[in-house]
Amino acid sequence: MAAKKEKEIDEEELKVDDVSLDEEEDTVVVEVPEDEPTLDDLPGVGPATAEKLREAGFDDMLAIAVMSPSALADAAELGEAVSAKIIAGAKKLANIGGFLSGNALLEKRSEVLKLTSSSVAVDELFGGGFETQAICEVYGEFGSGKTQIGHQLAVNATMPISEGGLGGEVFYIDTEDTFRPERISQMARGNGLDPELVLERIHVARAYNSAHQMLLVDEIKRMAKNIEVKMVIVDSLTSHFRAEFLGRGKLAERQQKLNKHLKELKQLADVSNALVLVTNQVHSKPDAMWGDPTKPIGGHIVGHASTFRLYLRKSKGGRRIGRLVDSPNLPEGEAVFMVTGEGIRD
Ligand code: GTP
Ligand code: MG
Repeated sequence: MAAKKEKEIDEEELKVDDVSLDEEEDTVVVEVPEDEPTLDDLPGVGPATAEKLREAGFDDMLAIAVMSPSALADAAELGEAVSAKIIAGAKKLANIGGFLSGNALLEKRSEVLKLTSSSVAVDELFGGGFETQAICEVYGEFGSGKTQIGHQLAVNATMPISEGGLGGEVFYIDTEDTFRPERISQMARGNGLDPELVLERIHVARAYNSAHQMLLVDEIKRMAKNIEVKMVIVDSLTSHFRAEFLGRGKLAERQQKLNKHLKELKQLADVSNALVLVTNQVHSKPDAMWGDPTKPIGGHIVGHASTFRLYLRKSKGGRRIGRLVDSPNLPEGEAVFMVTGEGIRD
């Protein structure tokens, strides 16, 4: 319905343009709209199918071009054969893009913002803070502080950019029912912020299973068109996937789904210049021949999709050690921090 309304408004705008054109013919500069193909240009897509596609959130060619026939059929309630035909058409019409010059990339990188963690040591480890346009994975055993970091960064992201925040809205996908608004209030007060204003900008959804978790990302993407989404937290990324896809036989399917989920999160981070923070549990691999036998869930898929990986360990006296395990442009290193009543501190 919403899409239909938009279309009507578009047509109205066109009419208004025509009128002004008639009135001041020689002064009006006519902006020629780029000839962008619309859904109706796709083979086999009539108004009803176009409506179904729009309702399912597919309103541009690229979004359709990158789907598999079965996934599109599922999402938009179409037949698989029709979906395959639509995807083939979208691939021809979509502006695939892909290559950017080094300078264009540098310009995109110059927009990267850095979010403070409220710990100088952790910020230094991250070269000045947690970067946008990236996925940061925080992993570690239970009680190591993953959820606390998530809460702290959520609070800090609502702060203005000039104060180390991201100056935007935060979306928190809670899979384990461990989001606590009271804790947000405490941390907000710890930063001298008004808890009510901070809570107003943190939007929380409980994900009931992995499919729901993935749908919530679609929902955030839709909202990102109108709202300044600056941070997305998925706490935890893997718990539902781990519980639902048990055993070797389901491993491939689990990894495939996780991969898709992470790709969508990365796309969101890039398009919205946002930080995506995901938490992850660890499992013990007693057969590991060397090094730490504690490994994050999700293996290479999660490892490769994450731009930064922070491994948390508990230490003496309530201290926590964070180790930057993987980063494209920073050295490996460690930072020590505390979880206090007011939040994360040195
Ligand atoms: P799992 O989700 O179980 O895997 O653990 P996690 O890594 O998310 O742990 P979490 O971030 O929930 O850390 C819990 C720990 O943070 C507690 O054991 C406390 O040590 C500390 N903590 C949590 N809340 C407070 C608080 O209000 N004050 C203080 N001082 N410490 C707190
Ligand atoms: Mg937790």
